[in-house]
Amino acid sequence: MNKVLITGAAGFIGYYLSKELIDNNYQVIGIDNLNDYYDVSLKKDRINNISDNKNFIFINEDINNIEQIKNIFIEYKPDIVIHLAAYGGVRYSLEKPDVYIKNNIDGFYNILKIASDFKVKHFVFTSSSSIYGNINGIPSKEEDAKINQESLYASTKMCDEVIAYSFSKLYDMPITAIRPFTVYGPLGRPDMAYFSFTNKLINKEEITLYHNGNLKRDYTYITDAINGIYSIIINKPNELYNVYNIAGSKQYSTNELVSILKEAMIENNLVNSDFDFDSLIKYSDMKKGEVNETYADISKINQAFNYVPKVDLKTGIKEFIKWYKKYYTK
Ligand SMILES: NC(=O)c1ccc[n+]([C@@H]2O[C@H](COP(=O)([O-])OP(=O)(O)OC[C@H]3O[C@@H](n4cnc5c(N)ncnc54)[C@H](O)[C@@H]3O)[C@@H](O)[C@H]2O)c1
Repeated sequence: MNKVLITGAAGFIGYYLSKELIDNNYQVIGIDNLNDYYDVSLKKDRINNISDNKNFIFINEDINNIEQIKNIFIEYKPDIVIHLAAYGGVRYSLEKPDVYIKNNIDGFYNILKIASDFKVKHFVFTSSSSIYGNINGIPSKEEDAKINQESLYASTKMCDEVIAYSFSKLYDMPITAIRPFTVYGPLGRPDMAYFSFTNKLINKEEITLYHNGNLKRDYTYITDAINGIYSIIINKPNELYNVYNIAGSKQYSTNELVSILKEAMIENNLVNSDFDFDSLIKYSDMKKGEVNETYADISKINQAFNYVPKVDLKTGIKEFIKWYKKYYTK
């Protein structure tokens, strides 16, 4: 049985990926420090959902505790490492840049170095769509990445890719960098717009749409993201160093997101049909650190692993709202 070590296992993507792997008979060693960047009880609930499975081991540890992490590698000898632990969120990286350097660069390096010392068969990690910076309506291809990151979050991810590339060449280490585009869904991240807008609206608090609601994002439903990541893990890497976009490959403006959210909230009786959304929606200019749009060309992962996203934003947001209602209005 293949052993997979996942950092950030209590996170949104980490939880779903752990579940997918244990359901497919992999042994998963999940590491997470359960930090309070967002609601810790959500992280604990994710872990509780899978902790009974004999193929899953959870270890509450910080990736910056090098000796403890080394001991975990000595004890479990993972074949594959999936490094997801990081601070996400563009806005928070403007407030707390030090946190991003410490966790997204130092923490990344720690795991990469230990994985290299232990000669794992494949090191997979999540970079981000944000590394593309500002684009102009043209879907980003993997080779379009250059130094034009708008936020410190994005620059830490770009930095990780640069370090990983050198590692793969220097130590003959198979590495894959994944660039996910706005992943969303049930048990998702409360700091992301679709989730925080829902929280605010049902509490009758105002929401602000930057760039007058015209920011465009390429959204990826969680099951599509997991299918893409899973296909990368189960297949032998094509090259020593690989990079793949994972996305829905369709853009929606924030205005469109909000109207889809409104419809799903009414349809699922989260609010009444006469709920006054309009008085709660405010518009403002572009926000520093944000990019105008994200948009992925997914032909590379499609050709490599037949990746095809299946869930559109309307369907995915409905699933999120159904879960939200059950989870928060028990
Ligand atoms: N969700 C998205 O839309 C998206 C898009 C692009 C990239 N990514 C990247 O994918 C990865 C997973 O994202 P997510 O949405 O699941 O985020 P998440 O915040 O839900 O998960 C990250 C997990 O890492 C853990 N963590 C952070 N620092 C740690 C440390 N020092 N030691 C141990 N654990 C630590 C956190 O507690 C958290 O549970 C991240 O690297 C993120 O940057 C996510």
